[in-house]
Amino acid sequence: MDLISGLDEEAQTNSQAPWDKFDAKDYFSHNYRTLREDDRQILAAVRDHFGALLAASGATGLHGLDLGAGTNLYPALAMLPWCSAITLFERAPKNVDWLRSEIQQYGTNWDEFWQVLTEHQAYQGVADPRARLKSAADVRPGDLFTELPEGGADIGTMFFVAESLSTSYTEYRGAIDHFARALRPGAPFAVAFMENSVGYEVGTHTFPACKVGQSDVIDSLQGYADSDLTVSRIDVPGQPLRPGYTGMLLALGRMRD
Ligand SMILES: C[S@@+](CC[C@H](N)C(=O)[O-])C[C@H]1O[C@@H](n2cnc3c(N)ncnc32)[C@H](O)[C@@H]1O
Repeated sequence: MDLISGLDEEAQTNSQAPWDKFDAKDYFSHNYRTLREDDRQILAAVRDHFGALLAASGATGLHGLDLGAGTNLYPALAMLPWCSAITLFERAPKNVDWLRSEIQQYGTNWDEFWQVLTEHQAYQGVADPRARLKSAADVRPGDLFTELPEGGADIGTMFFVAESLSTSYTEYRGAIDHFARALRPGAPFAVAFMENSVGYEVGTHTFPACKVGQSDVIDSLQGYADSDLTVSRIDVPGQPLRPGYTGMLLALGRMRD
């Protein structure tokens, strides 16, 4: 039996889920008020991935995309040294409001996330990450299935979105397709997933998920990614974030030229 009862019996497409009731404050408090060990491992791996691909290239002025940003600023922070613009694309209205407010002067909770990033030299050159994020970030409300521009982003992230927006595997694949098409050839990317998620609660509402494992992630990305794509598993460290998942998955790569 699933840990969140009924979710697997009740299919829910992306357009059926209650995004207008997604409680941004509850989601932020539960997930990002402090840095969890699994997020720390993901952040360090993304830092090293972007650092390895970009630090020596001298790239600046890139356009970053964080798709389905929610109330998570760490994917955007991971792109910050190379970006003059970062689009935070998001469907849920309360998350859009939260992002617009948070980027003005982000909270002190994000300092320990930034601290992890500064263990790579590339991040040490950003003297004032709060000011940099404020000037770079552009919050765009929209539905990734119908409103996401194609081909405009030089670097991209999508964290816990493709598998966490619907029970449908077709929509999971569709979200990956739209993310990939939003990036330019050669663009470095990082995509994170909840492994085998059966859905999640935010405030008093339940949101759908599609159960995916490592092979699903490889299948969905390998047609778009260069041959150096990696997909790694992060075990649940001690206390799980919530019931109903078996770990996290992280795909790192760059788009095929
Ligand atoms: C589980 S949350 C992940 C949020 C954040 N990226 C994180 O790392 O915590 C899923 C996010 O996907 C967003 N989302 C769901 N459907 C979407 C769609 N069709 N277009 C854009 N964003 C969508 C939700 O509003 C929510 O912010």
